[in-house]
Amino acid sequence: MSESVLITGASQMLTLRGGPRRGNSLSNLGLVKDGAILVRDGKIVAVGPRAQMERRAEAKFADKFDLGGRVVLPGFVDSHTHLIHAASRAEEYELKIQGTSYEEIARKGGGILNSVKKLRAATKEALKRRAASALGEFAAHGTTTLEAKSGYGLDVASELKILDLHRELNQEQPLEIVSTFLGAHVVPPEFRGKAGGAEKYLDLLMEKLLPEVVVRDLAEYCDVFCERGAFTVGQSRKLLAKAKEHGLASRLHAEQLSRTGATQLAVEMGAASCDHLEHVNNADIRALAKSKTVATLLPGCDFHLGLKEYAPARKLIAAGAIVALATDYNPGTSPTMSMPMVLSLACDQLRMIPAEAIAAATINGAAALGRENAIGSLEAGKQADLAAYEVEDYREIPYYFGMNLCWMTMKRGEIVWIKD
Ligand code: NIG
Ligand code: FE
Repeated sequence: MSESVLITGASQMLTLRGGPRRGNSLSNLGLVKDGAILVRDGKIVAVGPRAQMERRAEAKFADKFDLGGRVVLPGFVDSHTHLIHAASRAEEYELKIQGTSYEEIARKGGGILNSVKKLRAATKEALKRRAASALGEFAAHGTTTLEAKSGYGLDVASELKILDLHRELNQEQPLEIVSTFLGAHVVPPEFRGKAGGAEKYLDLLMEKLLPEVVVRDLAEYCDVFCERGAFTVGQSRKLLAKAKEHGLASRLHAEQLSRTGATQLAVEMGAASCDHLEHVNNADIRALAKSKTVATLLPGCDFHLGLKEYAPARKLIAAGAIVALATDYNPGTSPTMSMPMVLSLACDQLRMIPAEAIAAATINGAAALGRENAIGSLEAGKQADLAAYEVEDYREIPYYFGMNLCWMTMKRGEIVWIKD
């Protein structure tokens, strides 16, 4: 059996070649008509027009796979998810529709704490089954790599249970999972309402949990929900600095419900990404534009919460920030695994054009995970991570909304999902 595969029949092949994008270059898709991709051992050997690829000696002996005129692009890199949780919060969804705000629900012990209670009570097996089924949905919508955060455990055993699951799932199923430690999601119930409770919880994170996470190599990043009702900028800085000493790079939930100054902290810490950004000001935008910190926008949250204020994507792009898009898959603010739906929201609500949204969801998502040299574009030497869509023009991917037009998803050269 031949080890190489020649993939042909891409009416439009979006290569996204050339690295992470800022400003005007965000809409540069590196589009090749009638494209072909030569794959060997899970990696891309060469990419280009079909006639050119077919002339290569290796292509002649390769297995052939025909995309039948579909549109092919790199697999989506979903750089912000809360993959492991025990159940939906559909009951809170109904309350929100009837007028109770997300923060009011949280103050009454719902919200994140509701999910914490359910996760602590859930078995590892049940959590794994739910996550595995979600991963199937991610794959079916064209995602090949996703970041996953802990943060619904908030005690030593439960946080380790989540991070262990990230590792197990990464090893046992085909999608790539990048693990983030989000012990600082909110202050857990046993530390609430006591003087200095948040500080005591942070001490537990820094002295007990973080060293354990590091020794067992369970996470690559440390994240903090820096928000009123969660953690302050000062507390976030302290934890992220400690995590950095231990070798964990930073990411932050910033300016989602209010402006806290978390964006400036993200830039100061050299964070890989700074996510949400609904309430950034002009100085924050300028700081992001001058930095390598990726500005990750999560329009699924505003859509699901029925909020009118989306992040200022156009300003961020015009200023030159590296803008990425992600689902923020979680039970409270964004219950979706669909990057195509996020693209629709990015186009309709953030006023990004389809080409910008696709770049933000692929090569710039890869940059948000520090993996721009391995994934996020179709280029020789990168992983053969790609997805083919049943459309004639790539703009139809966001144009049709709330439906799945993904026909096939490939991770490291293996088909991980195909429509029957
Ligand atoms: O990214 N904002 C903090 N974390 C999630 C929400 C978590 C939840 O409500 O369960 C977010 O929106
Ligand atoms: Fe989040």
